Amino acid sequence: MAESWTRQAHARMTEVLREGDLAIDATAGNGGDTEFLARRVGPTGKVWACDLQPVALERTRVRLDEAGLWGWCELIAGCHSELVERVGRDRLQTIRAIMFNLGYLPRSDHAVVTQGETTCRALEAASRLLAPGGRLTIVVYRGHVGGPAESSAVEGWLATLDPRDWGVERLGLIEGEAPWLAVVDRRGEGG
Ligand SMILES: C[S@@+](CC[C@H](N)C(=O)[O-])C[C@H]1O[C@@H](n2cnc3c(N)ncnc32)[C@H](O)[C@@H]1O
Repeated sequence: MAESWTRQAHARMTEVLREGDLAIDATAGNGGDTEFLARRVGPTGKVWACDLQPVALERTRVRLDEAGLWGWCELIAGCHSELVERVGRDRLQTIRAIMFNLGYLPRSDHAVVTQGETTCRALEAASRLLAPGGRLTIVVYRGHVGGPAESSAVEGWLATLDPRDWGVERLGLIEGEAPWLAVVDRRGEGG
């Protein structure tokens, strides 16, 4: 189930991503989304991959290295709420694709899990970094402790976006415990 939302997120990102673009994976985890982004943007682009857990960043680094994609990727060790400071204020409104895959890292400590409050601060940071014509995807899980609260927090954040500047699409069931996907577009022409 989660797999299929990840695939959907990739499919939706493929619609906007081009070679040479800048991209961010805000929850690197096992590096699946980072690898996808790095393949799409190629060596003329750049991908930042952020995670709180050293084990996640190490798995991501090894995965990129083995795939020959490491050269145009940079790891950020820390909280994604600090993405603006870590990626750089000179990058505001320049990032074409930003991916969030919330929840906990499979095959790891399930106690380390994304939290509604920091997730919303990170989404705010991401919205400042996103370029006109750029896209943000958020895969949201509700089946774990804290999942429903985080899901509501994400809904609340989406509701703050001005529809004149942002397009928001929700895929999946509104009720229940199943994962769902948000696709958020900053309106305007990409450079
Ligand atoms: C579901 S996993 C991501 C899966 C990943 N996209 C992949 O393809 O393998 C969620 C990740 O978010 C990370 N995480 C949790 N809180 C975070 C935070 N505040 N800042 C950055 N990463 C965080 C966890 O350590 C975990 O690795």
